[in-house]
Amino acid sequence: MDRVTNIRVPLAKPWFDDREALAASEVVKSGWLFMGPQVREFEAQFAAMLGVKHAIAVNSGSSALLVTLLAMGIGPGDEVLVPDMTFISTASCALFAGATPRFVDIELKTYGMDPADLESKVSARTRAIIPVHYAGQTAEMSAILRVAEKYGIPVIEDAAEAQLSRYGNSYAGSMGRAGIFSFTPSKPMTVGEGGMIVTGDDQLAENARLVRNFGDADKFSWVRLGYNFRMMDIQAAIGICQLRKVAEAVRIRRLIARAYTDQLAGIPGIITPFVRSAEDANFQLYTIRVNKKAAGISRDRLMQSLAEQGVASRLYYPALHRAPVFSRLNPGMDASFPSACAFADSAVSLPLYPTMTEEEINHVIRSVKGAVDSAPKRQLKPGASPMRVLRACDGEQVDSSLPSP
Ligand SMILES: Cc1ncc(COP(=O)(O)O)c(C=O)c1O
Repeated sequence: MDRVTNIRVPLAKPWFDDREALAASEVVKSGWLFMGPQVREFEAQFAAMLGVKHAIAVNSGSSALLVTLLAMGIGPGDEVLVPDMTFISTASCALFAGATPRFVDIELKTYGMDPADLESKVSARTRAIIPVHYAGQTAEMSAILRVAEKYGIPVIEDAAEAQLSRYGNSYAGSMGRAGIFSFTPSKPMTVGEGGMIVTGDDQLAENARLVRNFGDADKFSWVRLGYNFRMMDIQAAIGICQLRKVAEAVRIRRLIARAYTDQLAGIPGIITPFVRSAEDANFQLYTIRVNKKAAGISRDRLMQSLAEQGVASRLYYPALHRAPVFSRLNPGMDASFPSACAFADSAVSLPLYPTMTEEEINHVIRSVKGAVDSAPKRQLKPGASPMRVLRACDGEQVDSSLPSP
């Protein structure tokens, strides 16, 4: 905690006001609690926002992934390609469907799936490719879609973090056979727990609607295997309120991200996020990487110092191939995922939410600068320029003139 201001800055905060509270209480009073008019309206408005034909609301982003795989008929014997750097359910959904997740390394610009590694992992069993728009920064979609098209494999975009992110003229989630979204509280729009599947494919949409509701085609006509993945109307009513705010929420997120980058990009050893265009990333997260040699401080020590200043920070995420839950299936060595490992060992996400005050933003910036400034610096070899040390966002360009640790 900052001794002068007593500031505590959380990582994320939902942007709620009386409208969400009122909308939720009206659903309670109406007595129609799930899969009712609010869910239908939320789906219609979400589809319209992205310009997609179908939106199917479910009870989480993870459910959206699983329902999509099941609706595509993916199961035992099939493989699903996912990036090594993502939230667990991008990969565990494959296990729940009876299929096998195979990990693909990331590239160190967008932190999304590396298209070259993706192509090397395609096999005769590959049934889906799930690129992730990490932190709301769209992945290298042209190259990923080219690989998918070459081998005739459908793409499911994991746009859990990417509401209103754009790749060129396309919204995240609208470029593949299907896209999925999450509405947990750290996302640019939240309903508490909830998710959405979007697709232009009529058959896939019909299958997904069945899978979400016990495979029930008509009251108790169970035509295929499904389960309870349904969204409640309380969440949908909150979601409708959030849809009215999400464009503004993303606009503010981009402004805060720009303020961070303006102040942090000049700090030696701090790598700020890649910016493809002003309308691309929604900055669901603001993730920096720390080059210990250049900054004089490790990522873990920086996090500790931030915590001492009352600033929350977190690693999103550990590399998936290192997770014990997958080790049996993917005995992938760190050497197979060099970029995901470099990322997992150096990344940290800073607080970012639309209701952040200027004081909070400045406190975060001051805390990062202070931690790096007070770190003991290594001696440069004579003639070496500190400016040559690690700038840019496309990889760890460690100056060879620096002494190694
Ligand atoms: C990339 C990614 N995929 C999937 C999910 C799962 O969404 P949920 O937490 O709504 O189940 C998340 C959520 O946090 C996520 O960030």
